[in-house]
Order: sequence, then C-alpha cells, then structure tokens
Amino acid sequence: MLKICVLVSGGGTNLQAIIDACESGYVDGKVCHVISSSVKAYALERAKRHNIPSSVIRKKDYSSADAYTQAVIDSVAESGAELVIMAGFMSILGDQFVQAFPNRIMNIHPSLIPSFCGKGFYGLHVHEAALARGVKITGATVHFINEVCDGGPIIIQKAIEVLQDDTPESLQLRIMKECEQKILPEAVKLFAEGKLTVEGNIVRRSDR
Ligand code: GRF
Repeated sequence: MLKICVLVSGGGTNLQAIIDACESGYVDGKVCHVISSSVKAYALERAKRHNIPSSVIRKKDYSSADAYTQAVIDSVAESGAELVIMAGFMSILGDQFVQAFPNRIMNIHPSLIPSFCGKGFYGLHVHEAALARGVKITGATVHFINEVCDGGPIIIQKAIEVLQDDTPESLQLRIMKECEQKILPEAVKLFAEGKLTVEGNIVRRSDR
C-alpha cells in the first residue's frame, strides 16, 4: 500500500479526492500525513475527520527559506511517505525539496500547462488570465515537480470548454470538480501501480 503525504494550504478538495480514492479502494494507498502551510486551512479538518496525522509548517516561523524547506523535507521524511502531493500548497519550496524526493512529488495545476502557469499563476489569477485571453478550452494538469515552476514532466491533463458566461470563479469551480478531482486520483493510482516512468521531461504510461 502506497504511503502518501499531501501538502495543502486551503480547502482541501483535492486532498479529499485522494482520501476518498484510497478509502474506496480505487487507489491502493493511504494518506499517512498532511502538511499545511496555514493553521486556518479547512484541509486540516478533513485530515482530522479521517484520523490522518497533520502538521502545520508556516514560513513565518523560520528564519530563512532554506530552513523552511528543510522543515518540510524532515516532516515528509518522518512520515515515511513514498509519494508527495502538492494539492494547492501555496508556499514556494527550495530546490532541495525536489532533490530530496526526485520524481516522487506531484503537483496539480488548474490550467493546461504550458498555458497560464509559472510564477504568479495561482488561485483565481490563472482563470482570470484564461478568460482575458479568450481561450475556448482550459483544464488542469498533474505533473511531477522539478526545479522549474510548473515545468516538470506532465502526467495527465484534462480539458473542459470555457462557457460564454464563465467568471473566474465559475471556471475555477468547474475545473476543480470536472478535472482536478478526477485526474489527481488517476495519477496517484498509476503511480501506485508502478505504471509511470519518467524519461527526461516525458512521462510514459505502461497502460497505454
Ligand atoms: C486548486 O485549484 C489547485 O489546482 C490549486 O489550488 C486549488 C486547491 O484547492 N493549486 P483545494 O485546497 O484542493 O480545494
């Protein structure tokens, strides 16, 4: 059974999707620890309800970015997790984090990478930018993280149509429900079954 550590900052709907996928048996795994960058994250409540241990690791409690990154690395290592998932984690971590768990950290991003991603593209900004550009499809991407912000090997993408009357909020909600909460558990399942291989910046799926 794959041990998974999930990093969160907010509502935790993606965390919930992973917990549900494990509890239903869709994924042969278990969320063994949740790390939040904020004490207020509702995701912490979700962890508690499922008896999952959690830690709050806040940037402001550390004297440097390196010390903060190291604290997150130590917490993940202590949890014994074999896969780390950044599910709406809003703090930027240093390269040591990627190097500590190579090709074992997944991120979910609410656009079709390489559109609307990278520095500054988080939260509603992503959807505002998509609407401002007038794209007709958008979606979400699950990828392994590397040293480039949103630049790591892509695992799965799912697209939806942008509707004429979409607002950033309506688009965000549809992408969360119809894309993120579907492809994240799917990516975790593939990882748990050993079906993902990374070659440079390309992910190959042995089930295709
Ligand atoms: C999602 O839109 C995710 O793509 C982004 O942050 C949001 C997290 O939502 N990175 P939640 O905390 O999983 O509900």
